[in-house]
Amino acid sequence: MPDLTLPTEAKAVSFAAYGEADELRFTDMAVPQPGPGQVLLRVAAAAVNAFDWKLRRGFLQGAFPVTFPHVPGLESAGTVVATGPGADSWRIGDEVFGMTLAAYAEYAVAEAATLAARPADLPVTTAAGLPVAADTAVRALQPLDLKPGEILLIHGAAGAVGTLAVQFAVADGVRVIGTAGERDQEALRELGATPVRYGDGVIDRVRAAAAGDPVAAVLHTSGNGVLADSVALVGGPGRVITIAAAEEAGPLGVAFTGGGTTETAVAGLTRALALHAAGTLSAPVRTTLPLADASTAQRLSEQGGGRGKIVLLP
Ligand SMILES: NC(=O)c1ccc[n+]([C@@H]2O[C@H](COP(=O)([O-])OP(=O)(O)OC[C@H]3O[C@@H](n4cnc5c(N)ncnc54)[C@H](OP(=O)(O)O)[C@@H]3O)[C@@H](O)[C@H]2O)c1
Repeated sequence: MPDLTLPTEAKAVSFAAYGEADELRFTDMAVPQPGPGQVLLRVAAAAVNAFDWKLRRGFLQGAFPVTFPHVPGLESAGTVVATGPGADSWRIGDEVFGMTLAAYAEYAVAEAATLAARPADLPVTTAAGLPVAADTAVRALQPLDLKPGEILLIHGAAGAVGTLAVQFAVADGVRVIGTAGERDQEALRELGATPVRYGDGVIDRVRAAAAGDPVAAVLHTSGNGVLADSVALVGGPGRVITIAAAEEAGPLGVAFTGGGTTETAVAGLTRALALHAAGTLSAPVRTTLPLADASTAQRLSEQGGGRGKIVLLP
């Protein structure tokens, strides 16, 4: 039965051709209906990912073909306003966050099984930016199989994924050396990592930071041309993984992880919520913008150079 209290149309951001950020349009679109196992959310906050502008530019056409008009957005926090068949784990009015389909919208659908309840003291802006980074951090760390006391090098440790990966690894007793720009050195120290500047000579600085102890594994989230030296540093590709350099990884035998499962999505949110409950979660929000300014938000994401998630507010 359609819920007659919900609008049939609402604001959403979409693009109808690959190109620059000005392809993004803020218009009325049909409110999606939740299918089996899905819920409909009234979106309170939707976070921006680099994936969003890479998709809009057409860089990901092979792996992620889209149908135009396409509404971007992978993650949100919001209120459950309708449930599809079998999605009985949530009730109307529940405050949730998680992976979301077409999240740049006032209303968006999510798989019920991938959502988590949002604690009242976790702001919607913070919650909206956790799902992708937490899922990615979990599925990149799992195959590295780190033991307490081992040293993990994280390239791009101050980014959204890196920031959570540092915290998850540190919580497991792993010694983390993280690369970041000058601006983020202190932030990494506060997370419990040993910071090192990225750029020329980075591997020498990592060796110095390890002070003679072996670097057991590498998680690469950012930076070109560092995978070969990372493999040499660890002594082989088996415990090196990238989320961002699939082409560079292939010939080196380095693993690339590109997509999660319900299990990794839930595990990521569970880990983030545990840190939040302990009062130690750090998940910075760089800025918030109205949903109507999604083109500005994607330009900021594409330019880089700021720490924390960019979050859209419908
Ligand atoms: N495969 C997957 O499943 C998956 C999932 C999520 C994200 N990703 C990809 O992973 C990458 C990181 O995502 P994110 O959300 O963490 O991005 P983010 O928040 O924008 O962080 C990127 C970080 O990389 C840093 N950086 C820039 N140049 C670097 C260098 N040469 N060496 C080391 N770090 C450097 C940036 O520092 P500055 O601010 O100083 O520039 C920034 O802190 C993106 O390319 C994204 O598309 C992939």
